[in-house]
Amino acid sequence: MRTLSILLVISIICSEFIPVSGSQANANSSGNSDFCLQLLQQMTLEEKIGQLHQLSLRGDIGEETKKAIRAGKVGSVINIEPRYMNQVQELAEKESRLKIPLLYGRDVIHGYKTIFPIPLGQAATFNPGIVREGARIAATEAYSEGIRWTFAPMLDISKDARWGRIAESLGEDPYLSSVLGAAMIEGFQGKSLADKYSIAACAKHFVGYGAAEGGRDYNSTNIPPVLMHNVYLAPFRAANQAGAASFMASFNDNDGIPLTGDTELLRNVLKNKWQFPGVVVSDWNAINEMIKHGFATNRTEAALKALQAGIDIDMMSSAYTNELQQLIAADSSLMTLLDDAVLRVLRMKQQLGLFEKPYNEANPSLLYAASHLESARQAAEESFVLLKNNNLLPLKPEWNTLAVIGPMADAPHDQLGTWVFDGEKDKTITPLRALREYTGRKLRILYEPGLEYTRDLSRKGLKKAVETAQKSDIVLLFLGEESILSGEAHSMADLNLVGLQSELVAEISKTGKPLVLVVMAGRPLTIEKEIEQAGAVLYGFHPGTMGGPAIARILLGDVNPSGKLPVSFPRHTGQIPVHYNHNNTGRPAPEKLPSLYEIPREAKQTSLGNTSFYLDYGFRPLFPFGYGLSYTRFEYSDFKITRNELHSSGEISFSVKLRNTGNYTGTEVVQLYVQDVVASVARPVKELKRFERVQLKPGEQKEVVFTLITDDLSFYGRDLVKTIEKGLFRTWVGTDSSQGLQLEFKY
Ligand code: BGC
Repeated sequence: MRTLSILLVISIICSEFIPVSGSQANANSSGNSDFCLQLLQQMTLEEKIGQLHQLSLRGDIGEETKKAIRAGKVGSVINIEPRYMNQVQELAEKESRLKIPLLYGRDVIHGYKTIFPIPLGQAATFNPGIVREGARIAATEAYSEGIRWTFAPMLDISKDARWGRIAESLGEDPYLSSVLGAAMIEGFQGKSLADKYSIAACAKHFVGYGAAEGGRDYNSTNIPPVLMHNVYLAPFRAANQAGAASFMASFNDNDGIPLTGDTELLRNVLKNKWQFPGVVVSDWNAINEMIKHGFATNRTEAALKALQAGIDIDMMSSAYTNELQQLIAADSSLMTLLDDAVLRVLRMKQQLGLFEKPYNEANPSLLYAASHLESARQAAEESFVLLKNNNLLPLKPEWNTLAVIGPMADAPHDQLGTWVFDGEKDKTITPLRALREYTGRKLRILYEPGLEYTRDLSRKGLKKAVETAQKSDIVLLFLGEESILSGEAHSMADLNLVGLQSELVAEISKTGKPLVLVVMAGRPLTIEKEIEQAGAVLYGFHPGTMGGPAIARILLGDVNPSGKLPVSFPRHTGQIPVHYNHNNTGRPAPEKLPSLYEIPREAKQTSLGNTSFYLDYGFRPLFPFGYGLSYTRFEYSDFKITRNELHSSGEISFSVKLRNTGNYTGTEVVQLYVQDVVASVARPVKELKRFERVQLKPGEQKEVVFTLITDDLSFYGRDLVKTIEKGLFRTWVGTDSSQGLQLEFKY
C-alpha cells in the first residue's frame, strides 16, 4: 500500500515537470518530460544519497568537501558566503559526473540586508500585502547574492511568550498565520520559482514546535489529534496550498514521537493525504538527535526512521550519507523511499531553474535599494501597536523639547531583532537618529540613555536621565529587549522588563513630566505596572532597519498607528497560556471576580466563585488578541447578514458599517469572529475568520462585507475528518477579540 502511494507521488512529481534546457546534467534533456526520472536512472546509489546530504560551509572550503562535491556526494549547502558560491558550484558543475548543481540555502527570515520587522511584528500589521512585499524584497536581495532557498516562513502557532521563537512566529491564531504565511510564501517564490529573484520557501517547523512545554525551546509537546488538526496544522495546510516548495520537520517530540521520525504526520498526512509534492528537510542535526530523544538506538536506526517517516534532506547530521548505503544493502525495498526523496530534490532544483542557471548572478545594487527601505519603513509603521493613549500622542505642536531616554532609543543592532545574519547595524536608523533628523517641525532633542543596554544593572546613568527629563516638555522612554533575548534557544521564565528598566520608568514618572513609553521587544512583555505609570504606550516587535523613522512619524502624527496584537498579552507569566481562542470550561469565570483580599481569614473551604480563574490575576489578559488603538475613533454599526445561502451555494455574507468619528485619518483592522456554539467536540469560544484593513478620513463611513463559506465553519472532529455540523453559530465583528457587535445564525 505504502509503495503504491509512493509511486503515485513520484508520478505526480514527474508529470508536473516543466521542460528546461538542462545544460549540464543532461545536455539533451530540453523538452523531455522525463528529465528528473531519467537523471535518477543514471545515478549511482552514492550519488542519490549525495542529493539528500546538506552541509554547512563557513569560510574557505576544505579538500575533503571538495572531494565530496566532485564525487556527487553533496546536494545542498547552507550558510555558504556569497564570495565562495561560484567557485564551489563549479566543482559540481564541471567536475562531478552528472553535473547536478548544488542548491544554496540560508535563513532569510525577515529580510536579507534590508531588515523588516520580525515576523511577529509583521503579523501585527494584519496586512498580507506588506508581508508579501517584505518577503519579495528579502528574496530579491538574497537572490542577488546567490541564495535560492530560505528556511522561512516559520508557521508555528505560539501562545507562549516565554518561548524565544515566538518572535519568529505569526502569533497565536491559525487563520492569521495561514493568511500571512501564504503571503510570505508567495513573496519568496514569486510567480514561478524559475524567475529571477524567486527563492524557494520552507514552511517550518512541521509541526507543533511552538507548544513547547513551559515555553522552553526544543521541549516536548503534547498536542492531541483534534487540536493538532484544527490549530497547529492549519497554517501548514495553507502553506501547501500556497505552493511552498519545501517543509522542515520540527525538533520537538509530540506525544513521544520526534517529528523527524513521525511517519504518521510527515508521510501519511503531509506527503500522502495532502499530496505535498516538494522536499521535506530535517532541522539542523535533528536526525541524530533522535538518539538523545530516546527514539533511536544509534545513527543507523535514526537514518532509517527518518527515511521511513519522509525526511528527504538531512540537514547537517550526516546520518544519511553515512548510513543509507548499508541500510539499503540490507533491505532493498528502501530504494523506493530513497528514489522518492531524490526525485523531490531534483525536481526542486529543476523548478528553480538551477540546471540552466547554476551560478550566482550578483547584483549588489539591489541591496538596501531605496524602494526596499521605503517598504521596510511602511511595514514598521503598520507593525506598531498603540496600547494606551491619554491624549499625549501625537505629540502636541507646543512640545518642542523632547527628552529621549532609555536603552532602546539608539540601539541599532537590537532593534533589528533575532535571526539577522546579513543585515548591518550601521544601516539601521534608530529612533534617536530619526528624531534628530526629523524635518517636519523644529524639535530640540535631549538624549540621555539612563541605561546603556536593556540588561544594564548600573544605576550610574539614572540621575542624568531624570535631570534630562526635568528639562523637557515630554519624555519619550525607549525600553524593551535586546535582540539576543528572543529567538532560537532564548526562552525566558520571567517576562518583566530586564535590568533596571522598571526602576528607570519609576524614576522618570516621578518627575511628573508627560511620559510616553516606546517598547521594542521580541515578544509580549509583562509591563502592566509600567503602563500604569505612563500616559501613552507604543509597542513594537523589533521593527528592523527602518524602525526609527517609523516611530518618529507615528509619534509626530505623520502616521496614525494601526497595528493590532497578533498574540494576547499576559498580565503575569503565570497566566500563560492565555489565548483568546480557548474552549469554554463548564464553569467559565463571571464578569466580576472576587478579590484575593476579600477572602476572610481562616475561611472554610468553599469552591470560591465556582469558576475558572486565578485568585490573584483573574483570567483576562492585559490586552486581548487583535487589540490596538488609533489616534482616531471608529464606530461600528448595522451588523447584519446580507445573504445566507449556506445550504445552496454554501456561502453566507455579513455587512457592517464602519465610521471614523475622530479627527484623524486612520486605518482600522475590522475583525470577524465565529463560534460554533454546540458541536460533537467542544469548539473555541471564538475564532478569527476574516479581517480587513479599512482606511477612513474623519467623518467618512464605509460598509465592510465579509463572506464565509461552509469550509470556514467546518472543523476536524474526533474522526479527524473536516465537517460542518448543524446548529447555532455566533458571530462578532469588532475592533479586537474581546468585544464586538454580535449576531447569530443557524446552519
Ligand atoms: C533552526 C531552523 C533553521 C536551521 C538552520 C535550526 O536550528 O531550528 O529554524 O532553519 O537551524 O539554520
